[in-house]
Amino acid sequence: MRLRSSHPAINIIQHDHDVLDAVLQGMLQIIRTIGESGKAPDLKVLRAMLFYIHEYPERVHHPKEDRFLFPAIRKRTKAADEAILELEVQHTLGDRLVLDLEHALNRYELEGAAAFDAFALMAEQYAGFYKAHMRLEEQTILPIAMEVLNENDWRQLDAAFTEEKNPLSGDRADMQQLFSMIVNLAPPPVGVGPEL
Ligand SMILES: [Fe+2]
Ligand SMILES: [Fe+2]
Repeated sequence: MRLRSSHPAINIIQHDHDVLDAVLQGMLQIIRTIGESGKAPDLKVLRAMLFYIHEYPERVHHPKEDRFLFPAIRKRTKAADEAILELEVQHTLGDRLVLDLEHALNRYELEGAAAFDAFALMAEQYAGFYKAHMRLEEQTILPIAMEVLNENDWRQLDAAFTEEKNPLSGDRADMQQLFSMIVNLAPPPVGVGPEL
């Protein structure tokens, strides 16, 4: 379900999720193609994708959810408490899982085909974990936010989410540049880079 709203904060969260979903999907597609073809590609594209998946949530997306969205909802209702707690734990856990995934990619790069299956399995598991995280936010948290937050809450949230330069959240433009690089490196049909 894709949420649309008159509130920029909701649209930014949904847009961030869509881009992350596209990167995760692209990563899985490339990994599955490697698994099927046995071809060893230039791993730069996977490295760039993992860098994006790591940096974007940690620097741009999660801080805004943790600092602004979740507290605003908690102030108005207890109905989302359990889900918010779970999401906060997942923000921390997700960071750890991406590091493990980067480590598995390093091993694949150094050890070759013998380390591929472990990396591929971890990537599938991570993508499943993160997609479930985004679904919980889209299907449970954002609908509750739309129900309970008042105009003043939205003014503050919209301002926080549209602020481009936030010392805690980094710069969205850097991430857009990285995303373009991924598209240029990724083999078709994921991107417009060289064939595998
Ligand atoms: Fe989140
Ligand atoms: Fe999110």
